[in-house]
Amino acid sequence: MSDQIGVTGLAVMGANLARNLARHGHQVVLHNRSQARTDALVEAHGSEGDFVPTGSVADFVQTLQRPRKIIIMVKAGAPTDAVIDEIAPLLEEGDVLMDGGNALFTDTVRRTEALTAQGLHFVGTGISGGEEGALNGPSIMPGGSAEAYELVGPLLESIAAVVDGEPCCTHVGESGAGHFVKMVHNGIEYADMQLIAEAYDLLRQGLGMSPAEIGDVFADWNTGDLSSYLIEITAQVLRHTDAETGAPFVDVVVDEAEQKGTGRWTVQSALDLGVPVSGIAEAVFARALSGHREQRRAAQQVLPGPGTTWDIDDRDAFVESVRQALYASKVVAYAQGFDQITQGADQYGWDIDRAALARIWRGGCIIRADFLDRIAQVFTDEPDVTTLLTNDYFRAAVSAGQEGWRQVVAGAARNGVPVPGFGSALSYYDGLRAERLPASLIQGLRDLFGAHTYQRVDKEGSFHTMWGEDGREVPA
Ligand code: 6PG
Repeated sequence: MSDQIGVTGLAVMGANLARNLARHGHQVVLHNRSQARTDALVEAHGSEGDFVPTGSVADFVQTLQRPRKIIIMVKAGAPTDAVIDEIAPLLEEGDVLMDGGNALFTDTVRRTEALTAQGLHFVGTGISGGEEGALNGPSIMPGGSAEAYELVGPLLESIAAVVDGEPCCTHVGESGAGHFVKMVHNGIEYADMQLIAEAYDLLRQGLGMSPAEIGDVFADWNTGDLSSYLIEITAQVLRHTDAETGAPFVDVVVDEAEQKGTGRWTVQSALDLGVPVSGIAEAVFARALSGHREQRRAAQQVLPGPGTTWDIDDRDAFVESVRQALYASKVVAYAQGFDQITQGADQYGWDIDRAALARIWRGGCIIRADFLDRIAQVFTDEPDVTTLLTNDYFRAAVSAGQEGWRQVVAGAARNGVPVPGFGSALSYYDGLRAERLPASLIQGLRDLFGAHTYQRVDKEGSFHTMWGEDGREVPA
């Protein structure tokens, strides 16, 4: 089924999405703030499909048939608001505006409310897969009303990645649900990359392997349980040599990881929801630490390490332990991310089908991984599961690897190699499975200094101990 769509914002993501739409037989009406980009796109790729270049916003809107379908592909935040403010007054009832940027989901909620009041549909659409995905098939996470999805869903599904004959696009839920899950997707992406970086660091520092050799290890891991896009491209980056110096590429890049904000938003939202996404938080903080150049320089001069040389006898066993630590920690990261989605859906009243979400993350997006099939299966078989970790498959997978996981974390601590991702994932695992947590002591302290009260294991109700008096307990 071919359709007509308007694309405004023709930087790389917008241009590639427009080309993808045109290649799938849709008529694509183009607009960009500066017309030069529109003309350049038509000049370079006009033969790929039915493009209709326009100049002004008024021209763009008038060229589109009603109900108009427009996707905005500009920077998140103020630039998106500016485009909406310019276009929305020219639209008519029933038209659909989509935002394909990495918007903060609360902005999407606000925009949905405002535009709905004007009789327009707004579809906040998470799109993952980078430039290549936008062109050849991304994973698409649209949020908005069912009515809006009926109008634009088929169009979006037609350009998404396809896995097992299914498009990687589903109606995620109302309002900000699409951008919310895209945000968590990015949080998981942060955790995943941090864990990969720690695995690389351990193999390098523990075994003295070269980046290219470690690249070969990742290529091998990509044939097993860990098979995923990020593992695959890790092999590629590690094997890459700098043309100018002949040094490994990773050695000529400044070791300060940047961030545009979606990981930080995930953690901020998790704090609001009270969901312990410790792996994602550690990943965001590890990037922040890497960027604290002055502190790092000062600390390098004076802070002592353990002064040990990491002596590893069985190299193959160590590589296998790192693989186990990586897999187990990765399962924890996805479990935490899906926990946040569960709690967010509950809090904001969105009906998010987690199995469908796991299925659309199997292709096109940055965190695509073979084991998402398993995750989809878990949510299909056990819709009430409270954490992925208790499902038979993941429980077995993580516990089979726990010995290696523990050895790696302990060895890293002993030898002064930072592993915030592996370490926090293991602590989360041990925290969840602990029969008793020291939280009871925290309750006692809170009660002593602030009469905050506590509950008892053996009877109902809240209690307070008269700490400053005779230590008697009274019902609160
Ligand atoms: C995607 C990516 C994409 C972008 C990240 C990078 O799903 O296609 O997540 O959205 O590459 O936002 O984020 P940082 O610059 O914060 O690492």
